[in-house]
Amino acid sequence: MEHQVIDAFRKQFAEDPTHIAFAPGRVNLIGGHTDYNEGFVLPAAIDRGMWLAFRPRTDRVMRLYSVNFDREIHLSLDYLTQGRGWQEYPKGVAWALEEHGYRLRGIDAAVVGNVPRGAGLSSSAALEMAFARAFAAASDIEWQIVPMAQAAQQAENEWVGLNCGIMDQLASAAGRRDYALLIDCRTLDLEPVPLPPHTAIAVLDTGTRRSLTDSAYNNRRAACEAAAARCGVHTLRDLTPEQLEARRGILSDELYRRARHVVTENERVLRAAEAARSSDAERFGALINASHASLRDDYEVSSAALNAMAGCAVGHDACYGARLTGAGFGGCCVALIDSRRASSFASAVQMCYTNQTTLESQVILCLPSDGATLKDLHGV
Ligand code: GLA
Repeated sequence: MEHQVIDAFRKQFAEDPTHIAFAPGRVNLIGGHTDYNEGFVLPAAIDRGMWLAFRPRTDRVMRLYSVNFDREIHLSLDYLTQGRGWQEYPKGVAWALEEHGYRLRGIDAAVVGNVPRGAGLSSSAALEMAFARAFAAASDIEWQIVPMAQAAQQAENEWVGLNCGIMDQLASAAGRRDYALLIDCRTLDLEPVPLPPHTAIAVLDTGTRRSLTDSAYNNRRAACEAAAARCGVHTLRDLTPEQLEARRGILSDELYRRARHVVTENERVLRAAEAARSSDAERFGALINASHASLRDDYEVSSAALNAMAGCAVGHDACYGARLTGAGFGGCCVALIDSRRASSFASAVQMCYTNQTTLESQVILCLPSDGATLKDLHGV
């Protein structure tokens, strides 16, 4: 990928790039829709992402070339206006950094990625964090993981219009090879958690897609805020399952079920991290399965395709647990599997899924990877 993006840069701009920024996608093992409730999540950065070859400019112009879309776009940092398309992510990050008081230099950049889009693996956070790294390097801004992830989240919330939490940007920025990250989305404390021995992460792409700016995601977030307000707490993070039960009478059935998912999911994440630390893959897997059931029945963000995929996965005896990952409504499931039987698992699940749905699927084995990096190409 690095060679490809360097070649693309040279062809497009007839110059050499000075740096490569890389940021990974992420897969969330457990902790669905808890991040914007200031709860807990357990994602891992993956070995797929966005590579950006770039060269700082002396003016405030951005020339951005996407290899995947084969499109070049010219912008001025002095006249950023909202529009549509992949360029909204770099524009939004530039806007957010300037809102934070930084003054950016323009860049020429070529970008290429291998995170499937709309699949729940956060191609958008990868794009945002790769650009954040590039802007920081081009404009002599110190790279700090949390503030940079927050700026990218602000870009997505206020520029792109999706009210996402902090998980994706933080996982892409802070990932650590061979570890998942337990993130407390209130304090933003991060703890690397090793996966149980002989386990692997399989991402199971249903081939179905949702559009994240769909109002359904923002609606779920609004429902959580309404439930917290009725219960008299700042966020649903502040309620235990017992405290929620005691308030059941003041909530509509829908708000109660949305809240029940969040408060029970927070507990599952903490127990899953504990299971991982004690190398208990069976227990970890059971919690992943319970997460899927809660997302399907209480939070109602699953789909027939995701349910079929999760069912096929858990039906195979190399699988410890499987659940929908990302926002839901389409995209991927994630499964924790016995790494020694990965290939028989992959072919059996694909066959099972096609038999049930007539759809084609893809199985991607993911390695927990490092977060966003920067490489200086001077002298290469
Ligand atoms: C999307 C959002 C995240 C998170 C997940 C659901 O990926 O970008 O912030 O809310 O959905 O867990």
